[in-house]
Amino acid sequence: MQHIKRTLVTTALPYANGPVHLGHLAGVYLPADLYVRYKRLKGDNIIHIGGSDEHGVPITLTAEKEGISPRDVVDRYHGMNLDAFTKCSIAFDYYGRTTSAIHHSTAQEFFTEIENKGIFTRKTEEQFFDKKANRFLSDRYITGTCPICSNPDANGDQCEQCGTHLSPLELINPKSKLSDAIPELRETLHWYFPLGRFQGELERYVQSHDKEWRANVINYTKTWLNQGLNDRAITRDLAWGIKLPLETPEAFGKVLYVWFDAVLGYISFTKEWAAQSGQPELWRDYWQDPECRMINFIGKDNVVFHTLMFPAILMAWNEGRKNGLFNLADNVPASEFMNFEGRKFSKSRNYAVYLGEFLEKFPADTLRYSIAMNYPENKDSDFSWQDFQNRTNGELADTLGNFIKRSIDFTNSRFDGMVPSDCTPEEWKIPGIDWNETLEKLDQAFEGFHFREATSTGMDIARTANRFLTESEPWKVIKSDRESAAKTMAISLNLCYALALVLYPVIPETSGRILAMLGVEKNIDDQLAPGKSCIAQILTPQLAKGHQLRENSEILFTKIEDSELAPELKKIEGLLAQAEEREAKNEAEAMDFSPLISFDEFSKVDLRVATVLDCQKVKKAGKLLKLQVKVGSETRQVLAGIAKHYTPEEMIGKNVLLVANLAERTILNEVSQGMILAVEGNNGKLFLLEPAGNGINGKKIQ
Ligand code: 2FM
Ligand code: ZN
Repeated sequence: MQHIKRTLVTTALPYANGPVHLGHLAGVYLPADLYVRYKRLKGDNIIHIGGSDEHGVPITLTAEKEGISPRDVVDRYHGMNLDAFTKCSIAFDYYGRTTSAIHHSTAQEFFTEIENKGIFTRKTEEQFFDKKANRFLSDRYITGTCPICSNPDANGDQCEQCGTHLSPLELINPKSKLSDAIPELRETLHWYFPLGRFQGELERYVQSHDKEWRANVINYTKTWLNQGLNDRAITRDLAWGIKLPLETPEAFGKVLYVWFDAVLGYISFTKEWAAQSGQPELWRDYWQDPECRMINFIGKDNVVFHTLMFPAILMAWNEGRKNGLFNLADNVPASEFMNFEGRKFSKSRNYAVYLGEFLEKFPADTLRYSIAMNYPENKDSDFSWQDFQNRTNGELADTLGNFIKRSIDFTNSRFDGMVPSDCTPEEWKIPGIDWNETLEKLDQAFEGFHFREATSTGMDIARTANRFLTESEPWKVIKSDRESAAKTMAISLNLCYALALVLYPVIPETSGRILAMLGVEKNIDDQLAPGKSCIAQILTPQLAKGHQLRENSEILFTKIEDSELAPELKKIEGLLAQAEEREAKNEAEAMDFSPLISFDEFSKVDLRVATVLDCQKVKKAGKLLKLQVKVGSETRQVLAGIAKHYTPEEMIGKNVLLVANLAERTILNEVSQGMILAVEGNNGKLFLLEPAGNGINGKKIQ
């Protein structure tokens, strides 16, 4: 029997906390589907596994915001997203859910295996606890004042105003989002995955794909490797998630960190797919046979989870085992982002076009084609309504649709709907098309994940075919030379067939309609079989003389009228206006001088020149430096949020401006006796104000 290599394709599991939008489709699901459909067309054995990420803080936050349970949230959005993907012809072999029993036991099995090998480390750390809600608070559950820009609504993980990544311990006046309680620090024990233990193995793994993976994936991963890998906490104090499979008191109330469980979803869902197909052990052929290739399609924000975290988890499982070893991904084609009308998609600002809503108005294939032509392979791309309309009307309707319809209509009206002539191999050499080259080009484009190129290769053939028919003028020629017109139509009809094949990955539904109009009994999906190359059919004409077409043609693509787009453009205008207003407000706020104060009020501020004697980083606070400054005869300790801009070494000896009569504050158990002045330049870079002069230490600014 012919040996057909297998491929496993996985797509990042979207959080089931909201509807997927066109940005998700462009970055992950469409490219994966194009790849899978092409591989099937070529006769490869390939499966596409995806599903919903149903754990983690994003889900519980949505539940709290909407006043419903996490279970309700995931049920709603899992169904909604699966439905949208199905309508968009994203052909998953299996679309699972991380709340399933098999997934829970798979993730727990991984935890137990790694725990039993003694690979995890445990650390006790201080974490905020909400006494009113009786819960530990993960970063996103805490709000407070940003130590950098003083935004009073900064989140525990990031300040949206200045973009700084924070730890909740750095927030000034932290508050619980659950109850408004002032959280207190309590000790909690967590399990850590020691990524550093796998540093060498990961380096070798990444290096072995140096030439093959996209530059952005390699560079980003290497930046992490070069910084040295640290331990990562893989447990959380949360009520929603996969419980630790341990009966000990310290494991009580703890769940696996969502990223530890989500990546394992790819495995669980393959198991579920195998069970459903009646061969429960079949999943092993895709995960544990070294011959099988694995491709993880993801967005650029998920890179290190897939190039370092997930492989390291699998390495930990494989360590010391003789059998049941898991394969690592062969490629991780991470996309850049596709923007929408020049701006980033943003779920939180509702600046998005949701897939399900889109498909209520426009057909899936027009969307698939437009997005494939805008695939964000190496740089961010843009989706605009205008581009969508141009591509639908100009390329799909006027070029492809028009060619197919003219070919079929003319054959129906002048040749009784029958292929009127044979098309010899010689005649199949149409000017402008080299079929062997096309086959090669398609293969390189799809196998190399160059989806724009793959799609335009198909559209180029449609253009050439359209030109061939127009220039051959069979409607004129038939009057004097019926045989020649018959030849033209035989070639054109075979071109219709070839276009259905070449464009099948991009517009599968249309492709089926083309074959149906051509009177081909088996549409492409029914022709697919491992070991059989359907795409190779383009090398020879498939429709012989006498083949009967279906009676009527149909319009493949309806043009999009300006009036149909008007409401969409209006909506965009509104959203853009809101965004601009927000930005203008921010700018105005930036130039908005504070209310007037009297001279007396100003003179209350005691500004002094201080000299830095010593400087150190503050543990657990990535932004803070702890300075010992000399101001006259006194030495003061001052905390400053400048660690990203100055090293402790370069601070020593500097003269700085100190607000010397500011009330003391305590941040992270450290006292700050004053504040030093700095100014923010472009890109958030901070510059200290450094007075120059002799003998000025301790002197008052006046
Ligand atoms: O970023 C996200 O939306 C994650 N839910 C992706 C998870 S990918 C994989 F781990 F499942
Ligand atoms: Zn800030």
